[in-house]
Amino acid sequence: MSSSKALHIGLIGCGNVVVYGHRPALTSLPQLQLIALADITPQRRKLGADWFGLRDDQLYADYRDLLAIEDLDAVVVAVPQQFRPAIVLDALAAGLHVLSEKPIANTPALARQLVDAAKAAGRVLAMVHNYHFLPEYRLLKQLLDAGEIGDVRVAMLHFLGVIDYPGAAEFQSDWRHSLAAGGGVLMDMIHAVYLAEWLVGAPAQQVMAFVDAPEYAARQPVIEDLALLQIAFSRAYASIHMGWGEGVGGVDISGADGQLRMRYKQHQSGGFNQAIELYSVDSDWNRHDHAIPNLPAHEANIARSFCELWADFAAAIHENREPIAPAAAGWRALEIVLGAYESAVTGRVVSLPLVESSPLYSRGAAGIGELEAWAESKTVAAGLFGLRARM
Ligand SMILES: NC(=O)c1ccc[n+]([C@@H]2O[C@H](COP(=O)([O-])OP(=O)(O)OC[C@H]3O[C@@H](n4cnc5c(N)ncnc54)[C@H](O)[C@@H]3O)[C@@H](O)[C@H]2O)c1
Repeated sequence: MSSSKALHIGLIGCGNVVVYGHRPALTSLPQLQLIALADITPQRRKLGADWFGLRDDQLYADYRDLLAIEDLDAVVVAVPQQFRPAIVLDALAAGLHVLSEKPIANTPALARQLVDAAKAAGRVLAMVHNYHFLPEYRLLKQLLDAGEIGDVRVAMLHFLGVIDYPGAAEFQSDWRHSLAAGGGVLMDMIHAVYLAEWLVGAPAQQVMAFVDAPEYAARQPVIEDLALLQIAFSRAYASIHMGWGEGVGGVDISGADGQLRMRYKQHQSGGFNQAIELYSVDSDWNRHDHAIPNLPAHEANIARSFCELWADFAAAIHENREPIAPAAAGWRALEIVLGAYESAVTGRVVSLPLVESSPLYSRGAAGIGELEAWAESKTVAAGLFGLRARM
């Protein structure tokens, strides 16, 4: 494929994330040409046709018909994770490069299958880990890489002000509250988890966590809305404070030679609001302010982050290199989330990667019921993962 030819792209799943994320990239980047769209819901196909100026013969109810198009180069798969891995596998088998929404799958066993399939097919399988490209996280990473505070010792990511957005009304708008669909605030906001590994610059080795449902305790099924994680790396630690609600947002990083701190407008959390303050403190306690390269409206920052992610995906294909967020990063992030669930239920620290004999490895959150639960677990008391019925 010549690097001057625009990539022919197919879009599978035209839901909410397309509205504010993939649509701006697919309508503005010259290196991309959207030539087909598949969605099982007629209303979403119609919406997509209007947004992208597609003809009826470019719209598909069954994604397999889209995969059969001859001159397609790549697909983006933006359906909920419950349905996504099978589609990604079919796309790789059809010889296509794939950009997959997060999280990569519901089980590590499937995540591994996806990573192996991409490798065997010699195709790029990239994750939509778009927070890498938000201006505040880009700047944090640049400062860390430039040695602003020396080696990272402890990275604290506060996401207690996450907004609980429903999915597209025309489909299953409540899927984020369904365990089977892969819902829950931590699983949905896996952004914080891959960011922790990226900022620390190493794979996680251990995780321990509390996972609870204080806000939604009365709803059925019960789904986690609060998760507090401690993650150990070879030479550093991270903590993630995750919750749907209106709590603290921002990042604080302690390094060998100083600190980095970042906060959001209206004290909200990452992804939902604009970061307005980022400063370092050196080892003599002097403060240094760093200008965040924000666009005026936060929606424009989000749109730009998706454009940059897509540009990286296209460059990875043309240059035959790994994207910034390869499937392996999605697999590791999924294991951290599942390890956190396991820790919250058993009361023990969980080693990573998960062992293949773990019920969570093959069954994901659906395997939690097979764990030996700790009698005092808050997660069990909350009835999360269907555990109350079993106790
Ligand atoms: N990267 C991000 O910042 C971000 C933001 C939101 C959502 N997401 C992820 O994107 C995915 C979709 O989320 P959403 O909020 O857009 O969901 P949504 O419910 O709004 O949209 C899902 C769409 O997929 C379609 N669909 C479902 N099954 C299909 C199938 N088999 N074939 C074709 N189309 C199918 C539905 O009709 C719907 O239009 C999820 O995995 C979610 O985690 C990522």
